[in-house]
Amino acid sequence: MTTSPERPEKSAKYVLVAAAWPYANGDLHVGQIAGCYLPADIYARYHRMKGNHTLMVSGSDSHGTPVTVRAEQEGVEPTDIFKKYHESFLDTFQRFGISFDLFTHTDTDNHSEVTHDIFLKLLENDYLYEAEQTLLYDVTTKRFLPDRYVEGECPHCNFDHARGDQCDNCGRTLDALELINPRSKLSNSEPEPRNTSHHFLRLSAFNEQLIEWIESKDHWRPAVRNFTLGMLREGLHDRAITRDIEWGIDIPLSGYESKRIYVWFEAVIGYLSATIEWAKNNNNPDAWKQWWGNPDALTTYFQGKDNIPFHAIIWPAMLMGYGNLNLPYNIPANQYVTMSGSKASTSGNWAVWMPDYLNRHEPDPLRYVLTALMPETSDSDFTWTEYVRRNNDELVARWGNLVHRVLTMTYRNFNGEVPSPPEQLSLESLKILDEIDSSYQVVGNYIEKVELRNALAAIMDVAQKANQYLTEREPWKKIKSEPEHAAETLHTALNVISGLISQFQPFLPFSCEKAWKLLGQTTNVQEIGWEYTPILPGTILPEPSPLFEKFDESLIEQEENLLGS
Ligand code: MF3
Ligand code: ZN
Repeated sequence: MTTSPERPEKSAKYVLVAAAWPYANGDLHVGQIAGCYLPADIYARYHRMKGNHTLMVSGSDSHGTPVTVRAEQEGVEPTDIFKKYHESFLDTFQRFGISFDLFTHTDTDNHSEVTHDIFLKLLENDYLYEAEQTLLYDVTTKRFLPDRYVEGECPHCNFDHARGDQCDNCGRTLDALELINPRSKLSNSEPEPRNTSHHFLRLSAFNEQLIEWIESKDHWRPAVRNFTLGMLREGLHDRAITRDIEWGIDIPLSGYESKRIYVWFEAVIGYLSATIEWAKNNNNPDAWKQWWGNPDALTTYFQGKDNIPFHAIIWPAMLMGYGNLNLPYNIPANQYVTMSGSKASTSGNWAVWMPDYLNRHEPDPLRYVLTALMPETSDSDFTWTEYVRRNNDELVARWGNLVHRVLTMTYRNFNGEVPSPPEQLSLESLKILDEIDSSYQVVGNYIEKVELRNALAAIMDVAQKANQYLTEREPWKKIKSEPEHAAETLHTALNVISGLISQFQPFLPFSCEKAWKLLGQTTNVQEIGWEYTPILPGTILPEPSPLFEKFDESLIEQEENLLGS
């Protein structure tokens, strides 16, 4: 039986695919796609094919200093910045096939209401309290300065342009008050320390509970688990979750009109508020509870490693403090992807920007290469040389050519129809069909564990075996001498290709849709389910055309010249 998202089985699970909320202050680049959105999309597409109730959500992180700094640089309002990049994100996701069920943003009324509810409940449960804090105040502009608005000399390495949150020279995290000769980035004057009052999240109250919870997570990536346990064993400090700024979500109490909720506190709430927004949009306002109230739901959070503390400590603590909401099931954070050996940087234009990529190339070759390079256990490096090599030697040579060879041979020699196999298949044919059959389990297990590189390699391995099967059976020779032999080979190969298409689908959705149509199928490839669909003798095939393009080496230089220019 074929399962589809419309007809989930009884045993279907609830799967929430939660992808980190990108700051809406610039276009998306390849590093963010490889670290977060592509793995989330593959995982979501797989679970949909399995017939699970899959919901993939995220949105633009509209608030915070990354957005206001950009707005000030461009002399526009923060709203203009976030709206512009929110549109850009939606466009990138659509063109690259990142299949969100909802990609919203944090500047909605719904998100503000859910944030207020959580704030008030944590306050009521005594997990929020008010306390004084000393912060830097700019007397000229009459403002408390967010960390990123202060610059000065690093107390550790004496670098003169350290920021209030971090020194880019020695990498240490800083408190703005530690800076020597601090300067306000707004007025260039020297700010003075002043007291201000903020709400603090009582993180220290959750230390033991979090350790216990994480120790039970044997299925987490060791790097994520160890990093989190390390932070917890050092001991958590309470954190201020409000700021003296104007751009952000207001505080649902009177007397706090000049303050806003800290961007990180509200952004993580987005996973919950987006699920609620999706449920409202679907006229089933309680539907969100299936993912948040049902303890069997699998809530999986995709992100880069710099986001681990927020998803593995702060958000779970907030959920524990609120009560009766699911804690994360898994947080498969990725390491970084560097670009030709260096860390991606916006200011140096050292990045491959997704809108540019999509204006020049097809999505699937990049989806393939980024999955093959996914930084699941250590940092990895993207180069255009590698892009061309993997496209030509792997995607085209092993998969694209397999499909094209089999389809053209069949089309030309069997009247454009799938030929009939003999009553009794040979052992070689049974063996290769068996390979594809057992591969569903192998690949599915890898995807469920979010070992996507292994999953892709396992499918490629079967494709390679299908190539060997063809080489051994030489249908191009047998067509004349032994047409039944060739008919068996091509019929079998077409059926192996059917299985391969369904397994590649989460990774390469655009070319798989095309390949599926080339097999003479009228269904939608996303709806065929995570199982093998036989290709029946007599199926009419359309005229074949290649799935992918082989790249010329000149592409490497052209693209490399754009990096850093
Ligand atoms: N905007 C943050 C970043 O780009 C990520 C926020 S993830 C969230 O690093 F969960 F907090 F929303
Ligand atoms: Zn330093």
